[in-house]
Amino acid sequence: MRKPSDALIVALDGTLDEALEWADACRGIAGWVKIGMTLFYAEGPLIIKPFLDRGFKVFLDLKLYDIPHQVEGAAYALSKLGVDMFTIHASGGMEMMRAARRGALRAAETLEKPMPTILGVTVLTSMDDEVLAQTGVTCTAQERVVTLTDLGWPIIEGIVCSPLEIKTVRKTVPADVKIVTPGVRPTWASTDDQARVMTPYEAISDGADYLVVGRPITANRNPKNAAQEVLSEITQALENKRK
Ligand code: C5P
Repeated sequence: MRKPSDALIVALDGTLDEALEWADACRGIAGWVKIGMTLFYAEGPLIIKPFLDRGFKVFLDLKLYDIPHQVEGAAYALSKLGVDMFTIHASGGMEMMRAARRGALRAAETLEKPMPTILGVTVLTSMDDEVLAQTGVTCTAQERVVTLTDLGWPIIEGIVCSPLEIKTVRKTVPADVKIVTPGVRPTWASTDDQARVMTPYEAISDGADYLVVGRPITANRNPKNAAQEVLSEITQALENKRK
């Protein structure tokens, strides 16, 4: 069975000091940390190393979107930092996704390590049908997710989607395409501002490969215990799937 800790990504949405404190609390429990654009743009590329040094895999969530030439350069630069996974917008099109792959592959060859997993963001969970229509997209958000998933999976390694889309995406992509899901809430945690939530157990059972969990762990009085509880649910779900 896959190691359950490899399925848990802790979102470090805070200051650098907080992020390091949370990471230390989750050492040995979560295999991954997620660094988003707020922390990255505040601290710069050097932010990655302390987490790699602590033994975490790093998911850098910058959601690249630009002309292919720029995205290739950005993918090369951030892959050279040693990150293990990063995001691009699938709506940037096939050529942009191919360019990201070229950049990441070139960096991996330079570093002599495996290429990072590239994830496609389909529709931001903050966008509903109405917001999509404002941008000229006339299909539903759900249809858009399927279109962009179809476009993305032959080129990149994974898809980010909300818990409620896991089953749809799982049906659309082959089994080796990774599904990464935020909006995960154990029953004992507040839903915060997440509207479409699922428990860790449900999300893994529905077919997610990785769960991004932030505040249920980082805003808990005891982040270590909270991470441990999330991990127990993941372990149970993975064991159940093997039966
Ligand atoms: O604290 P919480 O568990 O809600 O954090 C979830 C993380 O996943 C945040 O870093 C958030 O930016 C990210 N995310 C999300 N919804 C998406 C994409 C990313 O909540 N659609």
